[in-house]
Amino acid sequence: MAKTIPNPVPILLLVITFYISTLGFIKTQTFSKISSPSSLGLNQEKLTHLHFYFHDMYGRNPTAVKVAEAAQTNTSKTYFGSVFVMDDPLTLLPDVTSKRIGYAQGMTVSASQNELGLLMIFHFVFTEGEYNGSTISILGRNLVFSDIREMPVVGGSGVFRFARGYAEGKTHSLDVKTGNAVLEYNVFVLHP
Ligand SMILES: *[C@@H]1O[C@H](CO)[C@@H](O)[C@H](O)[C@H]1NC(C)=O
Ligand SMILES: *[C@@H]1O[C@H](CO)[C@@H](O)[C@H](O)[C@H]1NC(C)=O
Repeated sequence: MAKTIPNPVPILLLVITFYISTLGFIKTQTFSKISSPSSLGLNQEKLTHLHFYFHDMYGRNPTAVKVAEAAQTNTSKTYFGSVFVMDDPLTLLPDVTSKRIGYAQGMTVSASQNELGLLMIFHFVFTEGEYNGSTISILGRNLVFSDIREMPVVGGSGVFRFARGYAEGKTHSLDVKTGNAVLEYNVFVLHP
């Protein structure tokens, strides 16, 4: 009986050879591999608090324009069904002529029939210093007449890759005649 037991060494060599060649195959033929989070700085995440003013202007040189509405929008007290596109400047101070640090670009959709509730889909694009060219993406609900509107940060680019967090907006001033508003924003964002 003992004579029929095969020598394990060649089998082991065969298994190792097969394993190594498979690894090689994987290396050359696949499009993904596991990377270390620290290779992209994710082991040293930091929390950045950004504070700035957001200018939403509808007057002579509007920064927010209506691009669509439903037939019912004119008869809705919440402008239900209207869609605006904005490219609103962001500044360091409430004065629109103070130092510009970026823009809020995207769209707002009146998405509530019973209260003025907007679906906000936009990104903050920064144009200053270490944040120049980096973006933070926001997707959230803006209940316009509540004191503080909280919207989730759903991602980012550049310095803000892997971003998560939230933005809080509140009205600093509002011109009821033109609809022009200055909003104060605090954004808390975790990123590498
Ligand atoms: C809604 O009212 C505005 C201003 O009165 C008008 O220009 C627009 O055509 C109206 N829209 C519809 C869908 O009736
Ligand atoms: C921001 O980046 C753009 C494009 O790279 C560059 O033209 C501009 O001078 C930069 N602004 C600042 C303030 O660094």
